[in-house]
Amino acid sequence: MGIPLMDIRAQYAPLRAQLDAEITDILDTGTFILGPRVKAIESEVSARLDNRPCVGVANGTDALVIALQALGVGPGDEVITTPYTFYATAEAIARHGAVPVFVDIDPDSACIDPDLIEAKITDKTKVIIPVHIFGHPASMTTILTTAAENGLSVIEDAAQAFGAADGEWAVGTMADAATISFFPTKNFPGIGDGGMVVCRDAALGDLVRRLRFHGSEDKQTFTEVGYNSRLDEIQAAAVRTFLPHVNDWNDRRRQVADWYRECGLGEHVTLPVEKDAARHIYHLYVIRHPERDRIREMLVEEGIGAAAYYGIPMHLQPVFKDLGYSVGDLPVAEEWARTGLAIPMHPNLTREQVEEVVAATGRAVSRL
Ligand SMILES: Cc1ncc(COP(=O)(O)O)c(C=O)c1O
Repeated sequence: MGIPLMDIRAQYAPLRAQLDAEITDILDTGTFILGPRVKAIESEVSARLDNRPCVGVANGTDALVIALQALGVGPGDEVITTPYTFYATAEAIARHGAVPVFVDIDPDSACIDPDLIEAKITDKTKVIIPVHIFGHPASMTTILTTAAENGLSVIEDAAQAFGAADGEWAVGTMADAATISFFPTKNFPGIGDGGMVVCRDAALGDLVRRLRFHGSEDKQTFTEVGYNSRLDEIQAAAVRTFLPHVNDWNDRRRQVADWYRECGLGEHVTLPVEKDAARHIYHLYVIRHPERDRIREMLVEEGIGAAAYYGIPMHLQPVFKDLGYSVGDLPVAEEWARTGLAIPMHPNLTREQVEEVVAATGRAVSRL
């Protein structure tokens, strides 16, 4: 039968009737863009994130692009970020003609190493973008202190980590802005493309709100060069349907992570860890092994989902070759890129399935 890496349809199955009814209602009313559901999801997410202004946009990439513009990033500016992320984080920086400056990652969390940031700050640095990668929160306390001491803004890329926390601090509430993706495989999903910008204050919220609609508040007067980047009503309806279940889904992801540990997966491979006061929500469950590719092949042969994410870290991507990075410059990110392997992680996994994945991984490792 196999065990997939993720199982979106199983997750949605109990909510299918609710989704169908929402979509039917949208078709009946004919309000597709910036209607009542977008307003509602913005305030519902805001209620979970310290009442910060939240603005729905077309996807998580646009959320980053718009947040960077709202914080004043333009050509020639430098933005410090992690090399171990989905390309969108770095692309959003380059989209503005700004320069991504990559800082190596913490060997345990795989998030940007906060102690290496200071050395990369120049008089051109404007923003730091930590990514809460795979659902593990970045070490925000040090990052925010470094940013404050140097007059920099911070954007949390929270595409993979809604519901995660660093101690008392919920992901999305710690910086000048945070960006969310509702891509269907995310831990807080929609049923298509969608995203959100979480803003530190009303002024930033208003600016982001204008930027998502061509730099206008009233569709008559245009004050900025903005975007056509709106969360649509169908996505808003889906995200609203899922929001009440995200905490439970995150808890179940954490339960699956516990099972992997209890079932002895750590005897075969290096397990993900939860650092210090972090609350990891395991958007992806990424194990590590020097023979990652062979293990992946053997798992897939046995019908077990396994995938290598971010196999080429950002500083070594062809698009950034002119930035002058070489192999070996950011060794920890390169090591994760070489050895990281995502194995099945979703809220519907059973303990029996986890036992099967652990046994298959053990078999794969013993055949190396
Ligand atoms: C870390 C990270 N940032 C940004 C994005 C971009 O989100 P989207 O696919 O919604 O544009 C993603 C999602 O793929 C992501 O994983």
